[in-house]
Amino acid sequence: TDRYAVFGHPVAHSKSPLIHAAFAEQTGQALTYTAIEAPADDFAGAWQRFAAGGGRGANVTVPFKGEAYALSETVSHRARQARAVNTLIVGGNGRLYGDNTDGIGLARDLAYHGVGLKGKRVLVIGAGGAVRGVLAPLLGEAPREIVIANRTAAKADALAEAFGAAGRISGGGFEAIRGAFDVVINGSSASLSGDMPPLPDGLFAENATAYDMMYGAEPTVFLRWAQARGAHAVDGLGMLVEQAAEAFFLWRSVRPETEAVRAMLRRTLA
Ligand code: ATR
Repeated sequence: TDRYAVFGHPVAHSKSPLIHAAFAEQTGQALTYTAIEAPADDFAGAWQRFAAGGGRGANVTVPFKGEAYALSETVSHRARQARAVNTLIVGGNGRLYGDNTDGIGLARDLAYHGVGLKGKRVLVIGAGGAVRGVLAPLLGEAPREIVIANRTAAKADALAEAFGAAGRISGGGFEAIRGAFDVVINGSSASLSGDMPPLPDGLFAENATAYDMMYGAEPTVFLRWAQARGAHAVDGLGMLVEQAAEAFFLWRSVRPETEAVRAMLRRTLA
């Protein structure tokens, strides 16, 4: 039986084992998928022990996506753009291939919710690794404009600069936000600490969507704020399921169906 795992620190809370077990059952694939807490200072060692024991691939989460990128012998274009790897694949030749399915996960989830980005004004909040990982796929949907707003304005500026060749994109601090947006995506970790970024009123255009890359049993403070201002609120549960489905496809060449797994995961939160 082929072995897979998610590596993180911490990792006990990870829903990935549940999701991949459901995918394996649904597609009739014989595999195991466990959660492995790597030491904060030795991701490479933990991965190598797993691979030596027959591990065929892995998902990588906080704080190891950069290390997984460095460890990969070959990386995909989208992983290079993200400078992060969330999916490791041991090739037939034994070589380690690194990919990143976070951005496609977000793009697929937006599509699932009927949120198109083509011609739209999009605001992205945050300028850390999570945001860097999704900008290229978002720009690929041909929005009219992407604005990145971050607590530390210089980081938003730098990200906009890095992706400027791929479309119209600018960055700045929260105080520099101007006008109304069709889609507002919270990719900052502010939700984790229950903090609300200082966003201006009048942020949402008509029929706007607010998307939080985080999720939980209750809507995040950002989604509650957005709902109170008339926006359609979507949390990041579907993004998690979709990035997992893409990873599963990379490993097994079978694309799982995500609808039932979304519902199953939602039930585990209640
Ligand atoms: P991740 O991998 O989750 O992106 P990260 O690279 O540490 O983690 O980035 C965290 C992001 O959340 C950053 O954009 C950070 O803002 P700064 O660049 O100013 O640090 C943002 N963030 C974290 N806590 C926040 C808070 N309480 N309010 C607003 N932004 C916050």
